[in-house]
Amino acid sequence: MKSILEAITSGDASPADFAALDVPESYRAITLHKDEEQMFAGQDSRDKDPRKSLHLDEIAVPELGPGEALVAVMASAVNYNTVWSSIYEPVSTFSFLERYGRLSPETARHNLPYHVLGSDLAGVVLRTGPGVHAWKPGDEVVAHCLSVELESADGHNDTMLDPEQRIWGFETNFGGLAEIALVKSNQLMPKPAHLTWEEAASPGLVNSTAYRQLVSRNGAGMKQGDNVLIWGASGGLGSYATQYALAGGATPICVVSNDAKADICRAMGAEAIIDRSAEGYRFWKDENNQDPREWKRFGGRIRELTGGEDVDIVFEHPGRETFGASVYVTRKGGTIVTCASTSGYMHQYDNRYLWMSLKRIVGSHFANYREAWEANRLIAKGKIHPTLSKTYTLEETGQAALDVHHNKHQGKVGVLCLAPSEGLGVRDEELREKHLPAINRFRGE
Ligand SMILES: NC(=O)c1ccc[n+]([C@@H]2O[C@H](COP(=O)([O-])OP(=O)(O)OC[C@H]3O[C@@H](n4cnc5c(N)ncnc54)[C@H](OP(=O)(O)O)[C@@H]3O)[C@@H](O)[C@H]2O)c1
Repeated sequence: MKSILEAITSGDASPADFAALDVPESYRAITLHKDEEQMFAGQDSRDKDPRKSLHLDEIAVPELGPGEALVAVMASAVNYNTVWSSIYEPVSTFSFLERYGRLSPETARHNLPYHVLGSDLAGVVLRTGPGVHAWKPGDEVVAHCLSVELESADGHNDTMLDPEQRIWGFETNFGGLAEIALVKSNQLMPKPAHLTWEEAASPGLVNSTAYRQLVSRNGAGMKQGDNVLIWGASGGLGSYATQYALAGGATPICVVSNDAKADICRAMGAEAIIDRSAEGYRFWKDENNQDPREWKRFGGRIRELTGGEDVDIVFEHPGRETFGASVYVTRKGGTIVTCASTSGYMHQYDNRYLWMSLKRIVGSHFANYREAWEANRLIAKGKIHPTLSKTYTLEETGQAALDVHHNKHQGKVGVLCLAPSEGLGVRDEELREKHLPAINRFRGE
């Protein structure tokens, strides 16, 4: 591993140098253990502690198959899917690995008693498998997390529709929270040259998701002038949705839960901000009944901020707790676009407000390769910026996941894998200099 790191940090090793490096037999990785699937049984979600379930293990380097690449991972990031995996909710991810393992002799490699997590990475290609021509050892890359087989016709219009579509490092093994990762070569994209490893690794999953959900015609197809209500506007997804709304000539109405988060939204350029804690919205009267008066109060607040207008798009992901309000406040003909249900997936809303006002609910999930590429391209051009607030070491991944689980973070939380420290990997200092304040916007004091 030492010689790999030396080649990467030297900055001048050639593709031939990288190809000549030995790939080690094992590497350090953040894993879940299958025999611990039941460790949190009976506990409340909030009490389930990722520090107990996430392990740092030395594991064997997987065999490299056709169309795949082994990547030396310099940095990765924590996603909410890391939290879901680590608390074994809503299901154990070992059920995904078992199902994937049954698909073919190649995918059987993924079904192991341990699961290497992580759906983001920035690093350097070490080896490519047969049939890979677009990438070579030494390429500095980031990886998006869409894993597809594409043997069925269904996925050839939009690869997210492949029946064997999976999220790498969540529904497959050998993810990015590790020193080495196994990816399909069609997950690879060029690393933005003006960013450090940890900055480059952090947008991947959420940036691509927000791009499809809000901008792409497969999602809400946002246009100039739209009012966009963004839940969790300083969080992982929301911090990119807010930037896309601003960059695309729309008006974000940012919902957050404290002053510090409101400040960050203002720093991104948003003006309309709702502090849901300070304003005390209670959309549910009790476990089974919502309070339409609270939807109305929320809608009234939005109109105050927009000069009397309703929202064209709601960027939804909290789910059960907010969905009734989201459907209510959307303007006639508007779109509620949802990619998650953090607070519960059995939603309840008043359908009269949907059909009578000709609103649409659109489901969105991650992004296809093209959408992920566009989202990464905007980062590489300095038009959208990483929202990294804090970086942990690989050993501290459990704490990093706990911060996200307890909503104590801003934007994205990074993890150093092979990178010995923050700040390495910048290849275009000029572009970086131009955007430095925006790149550092989410970093704590
Ligand atoms: N389908 C996909 O492809 C996809 C991709 C990425 C993420 N996701 C899912 O999307 C969800 C959010 O992910 P993320 O990375 O953005 O997480 P995150 O960084 O934790 O941000 C979510 C934000 O939502 C707000 N929030 C949380 N619970 C809420 C509630 N009950 N009511 C209103 N607001 C609430 C919080 O902001 P405030 O406290 O400031 O309001 C929080 O910061 C997760 O469930 C994740 O698994 C899905």
